Amino acid sequence: MSPSSFRVLLLSLTAFFSLGSSRGGNFHQYFDITWGDGRGNILDNGHLVTLSMDKCSGSGMQSKNEYLFGNISMKIKLVPGDSAGTVTAFYLSSQGPTHDEIDFEFLGNLPGDPYVVHTNVFTQGKGNREQRFHLWFDPTKGFHAYSFIWNLQHVIFAVDGIPIREFKNLESKGVGFPKNQSMRVYSSLWNADDWATRGGLVKTNWSQAPFTASFRDFNADACVWSSPSDTSRCSSGRWPAAATSGEQHSVWMRQELDSKGYKRMRWVQRKYMVYNYCADRKRFPQGMPRECKRH
Ligand SMILES: *[C@@H]1O[C@H](CO)[C@@H](O)[C@H](O)[C@H]1NC(C)=O
Ligand SMILES: *[C@@H]1O[C@H](CO)[C@@H](O)[C@H](O)[C@H]1NC(C)=O
Ligand SMILES: *[C@@H]1O[C@H](CO)[C@@H](O)[C@H](O)[C@H]1NC(C)=O
Repeated sequence: MSPSSFRVLLLSLTAFFSLGSSRGGNFHQYFDITWGDGRGNILDNGHLVTLSMDKCSGSGMQSKNEYLFGNISMKIKLVPGDSAGTVTAFYLSSQGPTHDEIDFEFLGNLPGDPYVVHTNVFTQGKGNREQRFHLWFDPTKGFHAYSFIWNLQHVIFAVDGIPIREFKNLESKGVGFPKNQSMRVYSSLWNADDWATRGGLVKTNWSQAPFTASFRDFNADACVWSSPSDTSRCSSGRWPAAATSGEQHSVWMRQELDSKGYKRMRWVQRKYMVYNYCADRKRFPQGMPRECKRH
């Protein structure tokens, strides 16, 4: 075999084995840069994305695939230095006025002041479920993993594998749950200095622009949805079927938080939670949202 045909064989083998799994996260394969006019870039053979923002525009990307349930994870290095006014987002969202959405939004800050990790869950167009956290490390010094574990029982938000928030499926109590709309994965960097930092008091310092956040190791251990006929397959957890021999139940589709998981989550919530809508009685004079009541 000539060296060039050997290379062709190697390339096609590589392509074959990467089918159906986004492990290793090649951004060329799984994402489109959708806005920002050159401010978003896929680099390093598809292993790195940088999103930048200057006074004219931010930038963003979205996944080519839609997913319905999965463990969807990204490593992110946030905007360093004076990032006040900026928001770096990593979220899942469906389309339309009754959309579902699950958010991580990282609110920038002045040097020395901590980032705020803002989380929210929308079901059928209704949000207002914010919880905010500080982090136990500096998220601008290196890459850290932010994940959504989304199955029929709950959505778990995790940071470096540590659960920080659980949104339970309480449909039996009349609370909406994201389970019948497939979602794409989005990331973006944008100016939100009307609200992001101290409620909008601290503005973006444009002399620090461009601001840049970096992304790598996208991993979607998730059910790829392409038509309504996929809904029951995704909900059953019997996938992926395409790239493996026979069907297999995804482990995490039935994953519960074990007592160690709850313990770690309680630790984060006790030490690092800075806002919880369920504790904000002034905000809901008509009565607290149903999911806030202890069951
Ligand atoms: C989710 O995916 C991340 C990234 O691959 C992995 O580190 C983590 O263990 C997974 N979590 C679960 C609960 O499967
Ligand atoms: C399913 O999704 C649609 C939007 O496509 C929404 O209007 C509807 O209320 C949802 N139904 C349930 C049972 O969640
Ligand atoms: C904005 O950044 C410049 C350059 O570092 C600095 O000199 C200036 O004080 C900053 N402005 C504010 C309002 O922080």
